[in-house]
Amino acid sequence: MAKQKASASAHPNIALVKYWGNRDHALRVPLNDSLSMNLGEIHTTTTVEFNVKLEHDRLILNGAELEATSPAATRVVAHLARVRARAKIETKARVESKNNFPSGAGIASSASAFAALTLAATRAVGVELNERELSVLARQGSGSAARSIPPGFVEWLTSWDANNSYAVSVAPPEHWDLRDVIAVVSAEEKTIGSTEGHRAASTSPFLVERLNALPGRFHRVRRAILAKDLALLGPAIEEEAIELHSIAMTSRPPIYYWSPAMVRVIQSALKWRAEGLAVYFTLDAGANVHLICESKDAEAVATRARGIAEVQQVIVNAPGAGARLVEQHLF
Ligand code: DP6
Repeated sequence: MAKQKASASAHPNIALVKYWGNRDHALRVPLNDSLSMNLGEIHTTTTVEFNVKLEHDRLILNGAELEATSPAATRVVAHLARVRARAKIETKARVESKNNFPSGAGIASSASAFAALTLAATRAVGVELNERELSVLARQGSGSAARSIPPGFVEWLTSWDANNSYAVSVAPPEHWDLRDVIAVVSAEEKTIGSTEGHRAASTSPFLVERLNALPGRFHRVRRAILAKDLALLGPAIEEEAIELHSIAMTSRPPIYYWSPAMVRVIQSALKWRAEGLAVYFTLDAGANVHLICESKDAEAVATRARGIAEVQQVIVNAPGAGARLVEQHLF
């Protein structure tokens, strides 16, 4: 194999029950089960070429070459090493990756990035993994990437066996016409990444409470998705989002992802709901607010969100597909 190339595309996902904390940080085996929806409107596309002529891995993200010593490059190179170990090769790779959403928008792209990278890199070296194996491998690059491999509504269960913690689809994208209307309020790169947050979680005195409450909430959210019951889903996901931030804020040292703009969008959503619009919020480890509603209300929610001064951009997402190979290479 002198040269071999493959390209793949994957969507980010929004967690309705969040992954926060690990049993095993190095292998990214999570403390708890989580559940998400792939975000159909936004995606990462990645081309990987292994080439014997390369002396080092070369990484190009949205047209700019990553500094070899940067944390992002180190993380991608570590993932390429996992793929090389599977294929039993030493060959270096050129990786080009593009997001169709602004990278400064504070939308977590590590899930779509590592899902697309895992699929493209394994295919480029001629290793054909099934969905479960892809999910296990993507998880080691970024935990939430495990959930960007299968389509639609996805659950990722933890396990005491690292090879047994992977994500599967609980319902296909067309199961429920749910929407995630992302109100982008911050263009800033967050100062504390999720990886640090996962490590800090166990320092919060409230983590034990959270872990006790989670199995019940997980099953409520799962049931609500299967039954397409927004009135059951909504309160559970809001409770979950606030709890994630409570754990972050009570970690030692504390992590604040809150911002005044975020609180303003949350309060607006509560007001719209009081006025009769069926909309609920969830949050990521960042300042953006994800407004969850059914498709019939998405335009009303998006229009209202655009009317908030602090909202810079609104992105309406239907449930998205799983990671897939694409014909068109980026180079
Ligand atoms: C709050 O998957 O970004 O979005 O494994 O360190 O890459 P790493 O963490 P990451 O954590 C996601 C945290 C979250 C919740 C979630 O997506 O479940």
